[in-house]
Amino acid sequence: MAPHVLILSGTVAAAASAVYPKTILSSGQVDVTVYLPGKLGYYNSTRFDWGSMIGEITLGEAEFFSDLWRTATDPNWGKDHDPSNPEGVLGLASEFGCGSDGPDCPAGWGRQAEASNGVLGYHEAGMGDPFLKIGVGKLIKGSCDACKTDTNYHFNSRYDFAEPPVWTVSHPSSDTIDMIHEASLGVWGYRFQRHLQVHGDMLVMRSELTNTGSKAFKTVQYTHNFLAFNRQQIGPPLKLQSGQDLSSYSEPGNEQ
Ligand SMILES: *[C@@H]1O[C@H](CO)[C@@H](O)[C@H](O)[C@H]1NC(C)=O
Repeated sequence: MAPHVLILSGTVAAAASAVYPKTILSSGQVDVTVYLPGKLGYYNSTRFDWGSMIGEITLGEAEFFSDLWRTATDPNWGKDHDPSNPEGVLGLASEFGCGSDGPDCPAGWGRQAEASNGVLGYHEAGMGDPFLKIGVGKLIKGSCDACKTDTNYHFNSRYDFAEPPVWTVSHPSSDTIDMIHEASLGVWGYRFQRHLQVHGDMLVMRSELTNTGSKAFKTVQYTHNFLAFNRQQIGPPLKLQSGQDLSSYSEPGNEQ
């Protein structure tokens, strides 16, 4: 899986988030708040990988926050935060899957549904049986609210866990953190490692997914970029410019 290199994508913690376990990565130039994955974490729901909740990022006088992107369309966003809300996220909010319903999805625009929508063992599971959601853990098929009327996989509906997911966090130095999560079910298994490191004015994020099962799988993954700047949403008078030339970039499957 290709590493993501992010230059200062910023986020914010809602007012109540101070109670959730977190740590701060510091390079001396940039400080990044990372919410730690776990049962009592900022996010413990069933859509996004738990190791992708980044809080505020500060660089000198500048603050990059994430809750503001949403308040324009949802003024109540961030109040009464519920960690078990599938959509109750911060920062990079990374999901294995393509953000739509169904157990399979296309790996790129205009393609056939040839990859997994971040789930393993979904097709063969009966209602009430476990399946894996990568980055989340072992869930129960048919347990979500939206599942009451059909057997489809619903990516943003809350599922019951078949067992609590285990995350191992190591924070060997003030600039680095590793968050590791593994799960297995019969022929299916994965090990996921999220590595975050700050150096200079950069936050580098590496996501590594290993197949620990005996059956091959293909999945897609994406990450949000909930950016705001000094408590303002991006929009006039602010202008966002990419440091890279993206004029010839095409999404996979959408090449010209
Ligand atoms: C999620 O967090 C809430 C509030 O801290 C807690 O009551 C609940 O048991 C947690 N759920 C899981 C699946 O860990």
